[in-house]
Amino acid sequence: MTIEPATVNDTQAIVSVFIANQYDPGLFQEHEAEVKRNLRDFLVVRDANGKVVACAGLHRDSAELAEIYGVAVLPELQGQGIGAILMRKCTEQAVAGQVTHLWLATIKPEYFRRYSFRPISRWSLPTSVLLRKLRQVFQQPVQRWVPVLLGRHTFMHCNLVEKQRDDAGA
Ligand SMILES: CC(C)(COP(=O)(O)OP(=O)(O)OC[C@H]1O[C@@H](n2cnc3c(N)ncnc32)[C@H](O)[C@@H]1OP(=O)(O)O)[C@@H](O)C(=O)NCCC(=O)NCCS
Repeated sequence: MTIEPATVNDTQAIVSVFIANQYDPGLFQEHEAEVKRNLRDFLVVRDANGKVVACAGLHRDSAELAEIYGVAVLPELQGQGIGAILMRKCTEQAVAGQVTHLWLATIKPEYFRRYSFRPISRWSLPTSVLLRKLRQVFQQPVQRWVPVLLGRHTFMHCNLVEKQRDDAGA
């Protein structure tokens, strides 16, 4: 498996990874136009034949803050460490870009705890970030709004400075 930034030729393959996971209530579906617009956010994992089998987005909100979103692996390849590769690379990229804080919203908080994410109040995020996210929610099919509006997502945060210090001391 290799991991690299997505190119415009990967757009359809990224959308296919989202569609393959469409019955997973935890994953927001990213449409083609949205993926294209945010292509610079995306990393893709390729198998030995170059096929895109997984993706994740790292969206820079400000100099210090970025969101990890759209972490998705083809269902038949889940549980083989590909999600871990994506989380590690997103974190490395964030650190390389001087980002000090990562956040994400998920209904699978236990998975992201493995990567030093801890729950936070959504209200601790900047208003501009919350508004951007809310706009994305309303672009989803109506049934996806419900868990969001009922507050079923856990917002999580990872302090990269502390994580690096902890990792160095481990
Ligand atoms: C969540 C996801 C990205 C993880 O990727 P993956 O490649 O399957 O995960 P990995 O192989 O790196 O890690 C597997 C480990 O995570 C654990 N894990 C998987 N899903 C979990 C969950 N929901 N909660 C807690 N642990 C979980 C597995 O039990 C396994 O544990 P082990 O290493 O002790 O055996 C992937 O399952 C996926 O694409 N799911 C559908 C889309 C989705 O929900 N994305 C997250 C949106 S917020």
